[in-house]
Amino acid sequence: MEKITIYNEKDTWDFGRKLAEKLAPGAVIALIGDLGTGKTTLTKSIAKGLGINEMITSPTFTIVQEYHEGRLPLYHFDVYRICDVEEMYELGYEEYFFGQGVCIVEWADLILDLIPEGSVIIRIEYGMHEEERIYTIEHAKR
Ligand SMILES: Nc1ncnc2c1ncn2[C@@H]1O[C@H](COP(=O)(O)OP(=O)(O)O)[C@@H](O)[C@H]1O
Ligand SMILES: [Mg+2]
Repeated sequence: MEKITIYNEKDTWDFGRKLAEKLAPGAVIALIGDLGTGKTTLTKSIAKGLGINEMITSPTFTIVQEYHEGRLPLYHFDVYRICDVEEMYELGYEEYFFGQGVCIVEWADLILDLIPEGSVIIRIEYGMHEEERIYTIEHAKR
């Protein structure tokens, strides 16, 4: 387990871009944190690092949004509105999670049982100052 202090939004962008460079096909990144902690902002920075210039928006009406212009395909999940994990099976989540792209999952705590072994779990908490965030990073175990 690793703890990182993010001091401002620029740190989030630097972190995300650096993380993107290390990602290989099949990577799953599970983001856990309250509203406004920066899950979507971190997703945008990772997308940027993958070479995606298309605007990343929160997938509000669909659970998953796909981006295909980067070094690897990006599948951006926001499972906040999911009522039942059954919905994940209906959209065929396994094709994404065990595929050749990169998956980023906002509100991953709601579907934690489905997060594959070895996924990067990033827990984000508010820090002491307005833009400060504390990242706790670990790899999913089964
Ligand atoms: N260190 C930081 N990292 C990311 N976002 C930050 C940071 N500091 C302030 N912010 C602001 O907090 C908000 C985060 O929103 P968003 O990324 O949509 O969060 P979430 O998806 O977790 O709800 C944005 O308005 C962003 O400008
Ligand atoms: Mg969000």
